[in-house]
Amino acid sequence: MLSVTVTRTLHSQRFGQDSAIFVAPGRVNLIGEHTDYAEGFVMPAAIDFATLAAICPDDTSVAIYSANFDDQITYPLDSLPGKASHHWSDYPLGVVSVLREAGVEIPGFSLTLNGDVPLGAGLSSSASVEVASMVAILSLTSATFTPPEVAKLCQRAENHFVGASTGIMDQFIACCGAEDHALLLDCRSLEYRLAPIPPHLSIVIANSMVKHSHAGGEYNIRRSEVEEGTKLLRSHRPEIKMLRDATVDDLKRWGHEMRPEVLKRCRHIITENERTVAAADALQAGDLKTLGQLMYAAHASYRDDFEASCPEADILVDLAAKETGCIGARLTGGGFGGCTVNLVENAQAEAFSSHLREGYREATGIAADIYLCHASAGAHQI
Ligand code: GLA
Repeated sequence: MLSVTVTRTLHSQRFGQDSAIFVAPGRVNLIGEHTDYAEGFVMPAAIDFATLAAICPDDTSVAIYSANFDDQITYPLDSLPGKASHHWSDYPLGVVSVLREAGVEIPGFSLTLNGDVPLGAGLSSSASVEVASMVAILSLTSATFTPPEVAKLCQRAENHFVGASTGIMDQFIACCGAEDHALLLDCRSLEYRLAPIPPHLSIVIANSMVKHSHAGGEYNIRRSEVEEGTKLLRSHRPEIKMLRDATVDDLKRWGHEMRPEVLKRCRHIITENERTVAAADALQAGDLKTLGQLMYAAHASYRDDFEASCPEADILVDLAAKETGCIGARLTGGGFGGCTVNLVENAQAEAFSSHLREGYREATGIAADIYLCHASAGAHQI
């Protein structure tokens, strides 16, 4: 568990001043993968893994210390780097850069970042660093942004500074998450509704320990395949601005004009949007059977059509499906490794976790980390 006291002490020992402390959570996505940048639907929950940001003002420089990397960067306020350097500091520096672009006058500051969101595990460590940094830095300015605006600015930092073409989901849930709730987000209008997670269910997250990275690589390739398919459909039906506007019927009519893999990517997104809205309805109605079926169907689509799973994640999902008390399981996040999310009856959660750990080790030789998480609140000051 992250310690506020430890973070405060780390900060004051290093920078010699008291700090204000902010927290921003990681997230787990229950369903709706790679739909956000197609302006579709997602249903994540914020989790109790998070980044803490301790901040105090400074006259002339920007100093940022990462407790996780035990590393500090320091720049004069008037010569901050204008581009990424594939370093952990890209995330907070990207935040400063987009705030300046948005016309916010940034004073000097010292910032300590301390997080426990597993890195590269599909639980949005990057968004939690961005959002924690942004709310902390904003507290030293007179600017006022709503939580969805903060999310959009942080997404901008990730897209334009860090260089990962990610959607809005991670930053949005890090800003707007609510305790004990999942959040169904319409990534076009940014309207959302909260769906309570029944108290008899646990969110069990299983880390395959296969790492991924979004800056470059497969994520961006998938995104460009999706854009290629959207363009083709738009050439036939101009109302299709984004894949969110397309239907399975559109694919039946024009899919043969696409490269086969592009057709599959589009089919995943179009059907995933339908599944995500249906899953939110099922969760709200307490229809856990339907919710579970939708999660398994989403995993199959992610694996077969989007081809963003990996053998290890498939093994975790197959093992989970055999366990009593498991409502549904799927690979969560950007794909190509990372974690599965499992909804499990509380009474079975411990047994489920140890069976999963044993079965996974037997099948792969890998020791999975298994976390029991709770849906948590979005970013706030502590
Ligand atoms: C990453 C991105 C999100 C989203 C997911 C896939 O987490 O940051 O914007 O696209 O992958 O659903």
